[in-house]
Amino acid sequence: MNDNEHLCRDPNALGLRPVDVLRQQAHRLIPGGAHTYAKGDDQFPANAPAFIVSGCGCRVEDTEGRSFIEYGMGLRAVTLGHAFPAVTEAVARTLHLGCNFSRPSIWEVSCAEQVLSLWNEPLMVKFGKNGSDATSAAVRLARAYTGRDLIACCSDQPFYSVDDWFIGLTPMNAGIPPAIRNLTKTFRYNDIASVESLFQTHSGEIAALIMEASTYSEPQDDFLNRVADLCHRAGTLFILDEMITGFRWHLGGARAEYNLQPDLATYGKALGNGFSVSALVGRPEIMRLGGLEHHEPRVFLMSYTHGAELCGLAAAHATVAAYKTLPVIDTMYRQGQRLKEGIEKIVQDRGLQSHFQIMGRPCNLVFAAYDARGQRSQAFRTLFLQELVRGGVLGPSFVVSYSHDNDAVDHTIAVVGRALDVYGNALRDGVDRYLEGPVSKPVFRRFNHEEFS
Ligand SMILES: Cc1ncc(COP(=O)(O)O)c(C=O)c1O
Repeated sequence: MNDNEHLCRDPNALGLRPVDVLRQQAHRLIPGGAHTYAKGDDQFPANAPAFIVSGCGCRVEDTEGRSFIEYGMGLRAVTLGHAFPAVTEAVARTLHLGCNFSRPSIWEVSCAEQVLSLWNEPLMVKFGKNGSDATSAAVRLARAYTGRDLIACCSDQPFYSVDDWFIGLTPMNAGIPPAIRNLTKTFRYNDIASVESLFQTHSGEIAALIMEASTYSEPQDDFLNRVADLCHRAGTLFILDEMITGFRWHLGGARAEYNLQPDLATYGKALGNGFSVSALVGRPEIMRLGGLEHHEPRVFLMSYTHGAELCGLAAAHATVAAYKTLPVIDTMYRQGQRLKEGIEKIVQDRGLQSHFQIMGRPCNLVFAAYDARGQRSQAFRTLFLQELVRGGVLGPSFVVSYSHDNDAVDHTIAVVGRALDVYGNALRDGVDRYLEGPVSKPVFRRFNHEEFS
């Protein structure tokens, strides 16, 4: 146990209240009861920890003193582990220096050097706080650079930004005018014809195409290079969203993994091991439009009051240093593989292959739950999560970190075994008999009270 862990576990220091009181207060004060929808009550089963008090390594503790092995960890932001000493100590060292000044801090340069040292190309970088800062800045920059309005994005990938240009495409698009929504067009992953058709229909109009290089399926038939090629021929910028793939697929992200040369690339999440920092990285001839030395119209590129506060930059600097010196990515692949094999064996032994699937790269595993008819099922997903929680696992996904050791993975496999026993019974008897609370719901729904089965 390190000192941080000890401090975090002292519930009296945090003025804890009974969980129901806390939950009521959260919903009274915060729309949705949480500051991020994906963490909300509607996303988890009734027995899930309502609030986390602290985390250490791959474990978190809730307000009732229950400990859980956690997966996903800060929506995939925490790759090294919670309260990872090399990062927390680096941040702590900056705390007495002040954090935000009237002129840039020296960290702005040293962190830029540290991050750009990951690629052997001339690139520029600008930092923000959330991934959306970077993706939305990339979109604006591409529009300015090309003088075009339309954006193309991949409809098989779940998320690029909290901003209107993307949220307008989702069912939760209240408040976004149709004029804005109509500026974003979509294509399908691994469907080169859908990309070609977009470029034909909107010839000369598409400023940028943004996508993740891969999510849960790998590119087929040289899809990524063909997309990049179509972009270049059309004068469209190719933006690689590396929010998840960055520092996870490969130290150099999907750019290195697939040998791609995007015009712009966006990083966040794992860049600061959970601290708030994101980055837009791009070719200098494009990025310079956000600078002081050109004669074209000025682009307002990622200029935030908190954009370069010291904690985020110190965290990014230390996190990248850890990636360079520790086998972080290899470990995530290895432990994810151990978990995947363990779970797949259980699924096979119980004959549940048509009802429960584990998908994705070992470093980024998710699962899909299907009902007795083989249909995707929120109810069965909720039941599975409920049974994981009962066994001390908080697993909205099975995305591991560097801190998921063999004990954590093996314990998880054992818990999955018990969870899938209940799952099998529910397939036979009906899921309602086993569910202890409401069915969880997707974030992107138009109305709160829509029913999901
Ligand atoms: C692929 C991808 N791009 C962009 C974002 C936006 O990042 P943020 O939530 O930090 O704004 C996310 C967040 O989940 C993401 O998964």
